[in-house]
Formats: sequence, structure tokens, C-alpha cells
Amino acid sequence: MTDTAKADAGKAEAPAPEPPKKTTVTITVDGKAHEARPGQLVIDAAEDAGVYVPRFCYHPRMTPVGMCRQCLVEVEGPRGPMMVVSCMTPVAENQVVHTDSPTVKKAQEGVLEFLLANHPLDCPVCDKGGECPLQDQAFSHGPGESRFVEEKRHYEKPIAISDLVFLDRERCILCDRCTRFAKEVAGDPLIHFTFRGNDTQINTFPDDPFSSYFSGNTVQICPVGALTAKPYRFKARPWDLEQTESTCTTCSVGCRTVVQSTRDELVRYQGVDSDPVNWGWLCDKGRFGFESVNAPDRLRLPLVKRGEGHEQVAWNVALDAAAAAIRTAIDSGGAGSVAIIGGARGTNEDAYAWATLARGIGTPHTDAQLGDGLPADVLLGLPRATIDDAMKATTLVVLAPDLKEELPVLFLRVKDAADKRKTRVLEVSARDTSVSALAYRTVHYRPGEQANVVRQLVVDESEQLGKGNVVAIVGRANLAESAQPTLDAIAALQTAVPGIRFLPVARRGNVLGALAAGLRPDTGESGMDATAICEAAAAGKIGCLVLLGADPLADLPDRSLARRALAGAGSIIAVDTFLTESAAHADVVLAAATTGERAGTTTNLEGRVTRLSQKVSAGLARPDWMIAVELAERLGHDLGFTALDGVTHELAVTVDAFAPVTADALATHRDGVLLDLGHGHEVAPSAAAAPSGSSYDFRLVAARKLYDAGQLVRRSPSLAHLAPGGLLHLHPHDADRLGAGDGKQVKVTSTRTSLTMTVAHDESLPRGVAFVPFNQPDGTVAELIDSAAPVTDLKVESL
Ligand code: SF4
Ligand code: FES
Repeated sequence: MTDTAKADAGKAEAPAPEPPKKTTVTITVDGKAHEARPGQLVIDAAEDAGVYVPRFCYHPRMTPVGMCRQCLVEVEGPRGPMMVVSCMTPVAENQVVHTDSPTVKKAQEGVLEFLLANHPLDCPVCDKGGECPLQDQAFSHGPGESRFVEEKRHYEKPIAISDLVFLDRERCILCDRCTRFAKEVAGDPLIHFTFRGNDTQINTFPDDPFSSYFSGNTVQICPVGALTAKPYRFKARPWDLEQTESTCTTCSVGCRTVVQSTRDELVRYQGVDSDPVNWGWLCDKGRFGFESVNAPDRLRLPLVKRGEGHEQVAWNVALDAAAAAIRTAIDSGGAGSVAIIGGARGTNEDAYAWATLARGIGTPHTDAQLGDGLPADVLLGLPRATIDDAMKATTLVVLAPDLKEELPVLFLRVKDAADKRKTRVLEVSARDTSVSALAYRTVHYRPGEQANVVRQLVVDESEQLGKGNVVAIVGRANLAESAQPTLDAIAALQTAVPGIRFLPVARRGNVLGALAAGLRPDTGESGMDATAICEAAAAGKIGCLVLLGADPLADLPDRSLARRALAGAGSIIAVDTFLTESAAHADVVLAAATTGERAGTTTNLEGRVTRLSQKVSAGLARPDWMIAVELAERLGHDLGFTALDGVTHELAVTVDAFAPVTADALATHRDGVLLDLGHGHEVAPSAAAAPSGSSYDFRLVAARKLYDAGQLVRRSPSLAHLAPGGLLHLHPHDADRLGAGDGKQVKVTSTRTSLTMTVAHDESLPRGVAFVPFNQPDGTVAELIDSAAPVTDLKVESL
């Protein structure tokens, strides 16, 4: 062998370099090559390639079921072209798909002819008319005429299957979308297929109405007009609607929505799919609460106190009166005798304008929370996780209020993570919640003793907690208990699980944004939080109390303190949309613009800033930031901005956390921009021991339900009657011991007062714990709570 030959032989033996691994799958759709994602369904891959395949049952956020057969396409195989349902068929390398061959067209027309065989074709009187996939696809992919001459199936025209939803079974095409949503996504399997064969129909069971917090989503995803929502029925036609994309601010999840109006009146909110947040879903409170905007007693003009009541006045009169009240307070008690509570229902811009006004006049006493959250430095400082981080975690610790009641769409994401991603959920709670059914393990604690329970849990679950990422969803689960035990539990988690990140839950829509924009106690200047402000007001030390969209009598955990604060404050200015129970005490009430009527930005619980859009005019009501500008001017301060864009810009320039929130970033990131928060705050455990038991029998848990006596629910006719009431929930064995049957009245005594309450038996409660929903229409548990005490113990006596 020559030297050259030897060298060549050597070359031939060297291992060939590996070809780069292919991360896509090449398919051909209607003659055009396309790179699809491995495992993608043909229906989605075709759509990415610009080819729409008709469909009814397929929904990208739910498991495909292949029910309607409308999405038939042809796929070439070794034995020639084969008809497949494209929503159940994954892509394969070199797959050749035809969506418009004569055979496919014939099949799709045939399916539509069948689907219409029993459909009533009552489009002119159907709410879905004009935006109906069945109507649209009958035109685009249907046969043009039907060969069926037989009488159609008849059912009673719409039946109310809940307080919010009507069902018209004649229109239903049995696509299984609502049933899948209810079972798979919401976990409320209350709507089903009943009967068999030709008689198959969708229905609820007679004693089990469709009372899901998420029922509106089924109306939105129903591809025909079989499910319609009471608040929108016969209100408008799609061609009458104008719409804009915005964010729901009812709670702090911050779901993306489309806000629709007709003739300058809000008529519908629909969910929009934001991948990091809500996946298209909304809860019914967020969806239907817009009704409150149109309530007849909405404040449209300011009021000033005259004698026992209030009188409507022009804006300049009210603003002069408000400025005079602030000036009087400063003159007699210094700037520190002015305090502002609230602001979490407004925009980031509103909060920034009011915080700038407060610092301008020299008061450090501002707090966007109402004594019902965790301290601002903890909410803003804990090492952060996004919703997506939390759902991808190996272990998710939940030490928070009942997610379904307070942050409903976050509950849907946790359910998905637990069911489908196998995220292991460890719940630490005083009672069973909606998360308990999803949790690998729920450990109960007696209110006040959660830190000890967490310390034990991290030992018991050390193997699991050492396996991968750990995220904790943390928040104030019990309003009848101080924040300290929860802080101690967070400290215990931080000590035991290095690298743990947190998704802190806050209740109102823009708590995080308002705190970050400056509506928090200025600790450098010994600023007081809302509870301390109320105590100071009760002691006569607050000359002017500003309620910025805050109703302390309804929101503060301690109602006696709220009452004394309102009585003791020198003067009160309320900025609100309604004359609330607290605003009724105000000397000046300034009429504020609300959802759908204002623009700006909002921040969700992850610190994600998204845009709010104005859809309808606010009439003579004004956005909070504008009210702050006008007041500042009267007090001799120039806030430095006169237009909304100016406030957004100034916020990004002057507040470090908002630096990423530029106009450019907001315009280009549809899913929002994350605030620069969470720089690794370590919560220091307190030295306090867990509160010891008292001679009283029960420890109180007071927590919110989705529907309560808040203004949004109370002023929305479709939601108002859904509040469950402030019943005293006891374990049946505890109740039996007291001779207190279900529905019986009992006397309940705390260190504060005695109330007569009605008992509800609740087997899910641990013994010795009493649960009462907070802020309900028929009386308030806040009368029993002393916010200075670590926990609230109750004596219960039968009457
Ligand atoms: Fe609105 Fe919260 Fe409901 Fe989402 S979960 S729709 S943000 S109230
Ligand atoms: Fe594929 Fe219904 S969309 S079978």
C-alpha cells in the first residue's frame, strides 16, 4: 500500500461527524413544504403553514377528541391517500397532506350536511349569528343545499342551566367542547352528554345546576349558539360591536380580555389567549362584572357633604373642597396628618400620580393594601417566579388563600400543572380548599401555627423538595389572623429550601403595581401601613384621610377599627365609583373612572405589566391620575405631567422597578413586560411563639369567596345574588356537640363582640376550626376580628 493509500484508508476509518439533529418535521401541505414541530397535530401544522382546516370540536387548549369529523383531510400513505381527522393525527417526517382535494371537499361537505340535519337554522334570532363557526363554515365548506327533508329534532327552547347560562339543545352539534372544558379544565363536571344515539343531548343533572365559576368560558367556546350568557342575550349583534384588547383588573391574575361595547355601553368581555397568563380563560366575575359599570347609581359627578347627606357639585367645587381639607390638615397637624389608603384598583399611572402627590405634600403614610395582605417589602422583594415558572416547578408549595375563590384562573393553571404536567403540589392550609383535590399532600394547621407545620413538612418531604425546582405560592389565607404566622412560614421555607422562588398572591387587581409605583408606607420616613393609619385616625391623629378606591368598612379585616378610623379622621376624601358605606362618611367624594373607561397599565401578581384600554367614555367621571394632577395644582405642586403617556414615561424613568416598562416594550410585547422585582428578600422569622389556645372553642378562619358584598358583585345584576352569605361553617361533630343543627342560629362571641350567626355543617373542616366567608351581604365577620390580636378565637353557644 502506498503512503497515500494508507492515508486515505486512515481517513475512511475516522468516525463521520454526526449530522446536526433535526428539531423539526418536514411535511407538505397542499403542495407546499412546511417545517412543523415534532408531535404537532396536522390541524395546527396546516394552520401554521397558512391553511385553515375547518373544525368544531378541536380547541388548542383541550385534549382532542375527534368528535365532529369536520377536520377530515387526506394524508398520502404507502397504500395511497387516506382520510384522517387532522385534529387527532400528529405530523410525521415527509408526510404529504391534502386539505382541498375533491375527496376532502366532498367529505367536509358531507359532514356539514349531517351536522345541519337537526340544526334549527334559527340564525336570525340566535345570539351567535354573525360570529358563529357553524354559520361561517356552512358557507365556506358546506354543500350549499341539504338533501334532508325530514322533521328536525325538537327540544324545549332555551332552558336556564344556571343563573348565568342558557342552553338551547336544538342548536347543539355535540362537539364535546363545553363538557371537556367543564371536566378537564375547570374540574366542575356539571354539564354532560345524556341519553344515547339519536337522542344524545347535552344537559345538567336536575339537582345540579351548572354553577361553575368558569361557566362563561363554555359560552365563548361553544361553536354554535347552544350556550348563551344571560348578561349578553339579545344585547347586540357582532356587527354592532366595537372592541379593544385590555386586561381584567378584577383580581391580580391579569387575564387578557377583549372589551366590547355598542353605542358607548359595555356589553361583553371575552377571554383572549395569553400564553404566560390565562390561556384564553376568564372567571365569571371577571367576565360579567362589567355590568357594575353601567349600574344606575354609578357616580358620574363629584359630591360634597351637606348636612346629613351629599350634594352633587361641579368638579372645580369638589376639587377646591378636597384641596381645602388637605390644606387644613397640614396647617393644623403637619403633612404627616394626611394619609392615603387604597389605590390597588387603579392603574400604575394612578398609583404613581397619587404617590407623587403624597410625597409632594410631604406625607409618608400611603398604603395600597388594606391590612389584608403581606408587607410591601415582602411582596416586592421575595425571589420571584412567574406563573409559568410555578407551573413547571417539580414541587409547588401552596400556602395561600383558596385559589379558586380569590384568583380563579391561577387555579385553572395549577389544575393543569397538577393533572397534566405532574407537578407535585404540597398544600399547607387551615382547611380543605379547591387545591386540596389536586394536591399530592395537604397538611392542615391550626391558624397561627403554620410555621411549625411547614418546618415539619420540609423534613418529611425533603427528598421531594430536593428533586428539582421548588416554587411557593404564598399569600394571606386568613383575615382573622395577623400576617406574622404566614411570614414565619415563608421564613421556614426559605431556610429549608435554598433556591426556592415565590409567586406572592395579592388580592386586588393592581396591588403589586401600586406598591411598586410608590403607594406603600415610606419606611425611610416611618410611614404607616393601612392598619396603623386607621389606628392613628381612630386616635384623632389624622387630619385628612384619603380613600383611594378603598372601602375600609367592607375591606379592612377589623370592622370596629374601620368604624373608629372613619369617625376619628378630621376629614375624609373618597375617590370612588360608588357611594360606598365608607364613602358615605366622606366630606368630598370624587367620581372615578373604572374598567373599560380608562387607559393605562396594570401589574399582575407576577409583576407583569400590560396595557388597559379605554372602550367607553367615563362621562364626567375622571381617572384617578387626573384627579391627583388637579388636586396637586390646587395645593401648589406640579406633578410634572398632564397626559397619560407622560405618566407612563415618568414612571419608567424615575422608579427603578418600572425601568423595563417603556412605551416601545409595551407596544411590542403583547403579553406584557415584567417589572424588575424580587431581588432576593430574606424574610426574618419572628421570635413570637405560635399563639396558644384560649378557653374559647373555635379558631376563626375568615376568607373571601369569589362572590361577596363588594361593589363589583353587588352592582352587577347577574352576579349579585350569587354571594353565598356569611354562614358559620363548623364540622358536624363540633356542631353536634353544641346542639347546633345545620341552619340553626347560634351566638358567636370573640374578644370584640357577640353576633348571632347561622350554622352550616362542613365536613371538610378540621375539628376546632370555624370558617366564615368574609364581607358577605348578610353581615360581616369583620365585626369579630381584632387586627391587633395574632388570631381570633370564638365561643359558640346554641340559642
Ligand atoms: Fe379577571 Fe382574575 Fe377572573 Fe382572570 S381570574 S378573569 S383576572 S377576575
Ligand atoms: Fe377534528 Fe372535530 S375538529 S374531529
